[in-house]
Amino acid sequence: MILVTGASGQLGRLVIDSLLEKTAASNIVAAVRSPEKVADLAEKGVQVHQADYTDQDSLVAAMQGVEKVLLISSSEVGQRTAQHNNIINAAKQAGVSLIAYTSILKADTSPLILAEEHVATEKLLAESGVPHVLLRNGWYSENYTMSVATALEYGVVGCAGDGKLATASRADFAAAAAAVLVNDGQAGKVYELAGDNAFTLSEYAAAISKVTGKTVAYQNVPEAEFTKILVGAGLPEGFAAILADSEAGASKGGLFSESKDLSTLIGRPTTPIEDSIKAAL
Ligand SMILES: NC(=O)c1ccc[n+]([C@@H]2O[C@H](COP(=O)([O-])OP(=O)(O)OC[C@H]3O[C@@H](n4cnc5c(N)ncnc54)[C@H](OP(=O)(O)O)[C@@H]3O)[C@@H](O)[C@H]2O)c1
Repeated sequence: MILVTGASGQLGRLVIDSLLEKTAASNIVAAVRSPEKVADLAEKGVQVHQADYTDQDSLVAAMQGVEKVLLISSSEVGQRTAQHNNIINAAKQAGVSLIAYTSILKADTSPLILAEEHVATEKLLAESGVPHVLLRNGWYSENYTMSVATALEYGVVGCAGDGKLATASRADFAAAAAAVLVNDGQAGKVYELAGDNAFTLSEYAAAISKVTGKTVAYQNVPEAEFTKILVGAGLPEGFAAILADSEAGASKGGLFSESKDLSTLIGRPTTPIEDSIKAAL
């Protein structure tokens, strides 16, 4: 039995799609805080359990009879270490034999503020005594392609400088997680998951130009100005600052890696950014 937390999220759903290609639906447990969001999965035969990252008892109940847990990091930035601690403790209590955790690329050396909660979670895992495997996910290509329409109108704006971004699609990261969950011998492994074809944001703008036929330029701005632009676009100030910090981190190589762990795990090249742009359009 394999349990996926955050199964109602974008990555969680793709992991379950990928698992359904590899194992019977009855072997999969979707742990979600709102079961009505995944009624379609229940119809396919996936077991659905209500469990909230803030409620350890609900997590223990969901994990009864479960062998492996995919802990998808919470989207509630700032609350994540405590929430992840609940999931790790629950797994220990339920006698789970493996936790796979979606961390961040090069967590131990990353300059990104976002890495802090991942480092703390990796430490909790190490202290827990529960066998675990780290899936250090790089940036999703969709972080950029979700706003390709805006880029077509105003150009690409950011503060990543000439930093290379080794992104891959969410579906690539999901396929890697599923591969790790269905293959034995994963305890103790650390996967640095990055896309095969890294690009700078100038190259990303050129890729949009190539795909659409409309010339799009990249404008690099200081981090503080980029934060203001994101706030102006409607993002909450704290989150805008974190995103700008991530791009500033990318300018120092924080979102780049030459690791081929991702394409090796999924048995094919990662999705090129041009394909993600086309999918978004
Ligand atoms: N690598 C990257 O580029 C990148 C980018 C963004 C995020 N991330 C990280 O990767 C994770 C997965 O990405 P995603 O795109 O799938 O994010 P997402 O679509 O926002 O999904 C987040 C999932 O976490 C669940 N969740 C949040 N708080 C919870 C709680 N208290 N109890 C139970 N479930 C809770 C959400 O449940 P609900 O459906 O009930 O809200 C949802 O299923 C994110 O949560 C974040 O940690 C990575």
